[in-house]
Amino acid sequence: METLKVNITQTQQHAAKQELDALQPEVLSAREHLLKGDAAGNDFLGWVDLPISGTVSDELSRMAHDVATLSKKSQALVVIGIGGSYLGARMVIEALQSEFALMPEVRGNKPCIIYAGHTLGEDYYTQLLAYLDHVDYSVCVISKSGTTTEPAVAFRLVKRHLEQKYGSEEARQRIVAITDGRRGALHDIAKQNGYPSYVIPDNVGGRFSVLTPVGTFPIMMAGFDTSRLLQGARDMRAICLDNNTLDTNPALLYAAIRNLLYRKGFKVEMLVSCQPNLRYLAEWWKQLYGESEGKEHKGLLPHSLSITTDLHSMGQYMQQGERLMMETMLRVRHPNTTISVPSDDQNLDGLNYLANRNLTEINDCAAEGTIQAHVDGGVPVVEITVDKVDEYTLGQLIYFFEFACGVSGYTLGVNPFDQPGVESYKRNMFHLLGKPGF
Ligand code: PA5
Repeated sequence: METLKVNITQTQQHAAKQELDALQPEVLSAREHLLKGDAAGNDFLGWVDLPISGTVSDELSRMAHDVATLSKKSQALVVIGIGGSYLGARMVIEALQSEFALMPEVRGNKPCIIYAGHTLGEDYYTQLLAYLDHVDYSVCVISKSGTTTEPAVAFRLVKRHLEQKYGSEEARQRIVAITDGRRGALHDIAKQNGYPSYVIPDNVGGRFSVLTPVGTFPIMMAGFDTSRLLQGARDMRAICLDNNTLDTNPALLYAAIRNLLYRKGFKVEMLVSCQPNLRYLAEWWKQLYGESEGKEHKGLLPHSLSITTDLHSMGQYMQQGERLMMETMLRVRHPNTTISVPSDDQNLDGLNYLANRNLTEINDCAAEGTIQAHVDGGVPVVEITVDKVDEYTLGQLIYFFEFACGVSGYTLGVNPFDQPGVESYKRNMFHLLGKPGF
């Protein structure tokens, strides 16, 4: 299997080779700071070694037992979490599961993964609880701080429903908590009730936590191979740690080109994927880059499109709107399945020129056509290509984007591992709600 590739050929009109070479020392210095752990945010670098951590592998074995027990009695798993405490798991699960996974037969009789705690929408919870009336389910509640309002409210609602449905003893056995190992309300609740629990390491921030139980527990419950996910991350870690030139290290090249283009006035990075099942990869990526780099009034604004769907809504802006954007196109070499356009004797729709051609061939032509059009329209395009969408390549992508994010943030001159701005809305909300002390 070919490893992930970054191609910047289609940025050359805006980013000359000499300019990229001139930026290389800054990018290498950012990489050095990341690896030596001597710059701002160095207490949140635990993600760098997660793919080779013995704790992570030991946890996967323990998890297999809890997953087997819960899966037997659950048609659904409610994953309660927000931001970094749910996007990573959702990205992997939605990339791998059938788009039509609502029926148990389609899911291979694995639990259906549904999400809560990522919204305060009242109707959402009314509908969720009504749905839970009809299925056997378990709950995985995830919060590093253990005090975030949205998942705490969701957990109260779902826990009460679970207790009313099964009684408190059985409810207790249907809840798994993933939180801090020593403190926080969720830690205390889990301890007091004896829920099976998994720890989020202190030195791993939410948006970098997908390879901890935050991601691996729900992913394993959905029936996917977390060992392959870690293997992909491990192999990409080796590439990122062993190579220190832009030519040999795809994460450094990506960090460099996005910083160079940003300095040249491109303020928005549009992540474009050619498959709908990668939409949550884009959501995860948006959080990773937005929360890591959007500070001190700096940073590329991460945005996303799915093609060809969004070419029919945003395509006009991309082609001729204000020239703000660079584009990063995520391409997949091989589909997991093939389907071709049938031939039709009457050919009334005039489509026989496509007869017997696979949809991937057609989709690739759409992607090529889009790249050419956008480059002609003044949008520099970076291509990131993986072989296929599976656990292994998703592991590669996760580590690639995380490593590039750390290097890119340091190159930009910010601390990529804090999120001071996230607190402002919480303070205002607590004040408005009359929370004691606010
Ligand atoms: O990346 C982050 O740090 C945030 O997105 C958090 O994951 C999010 O705010 C949820 O926090 P917690 O896990 O403490 O509930």
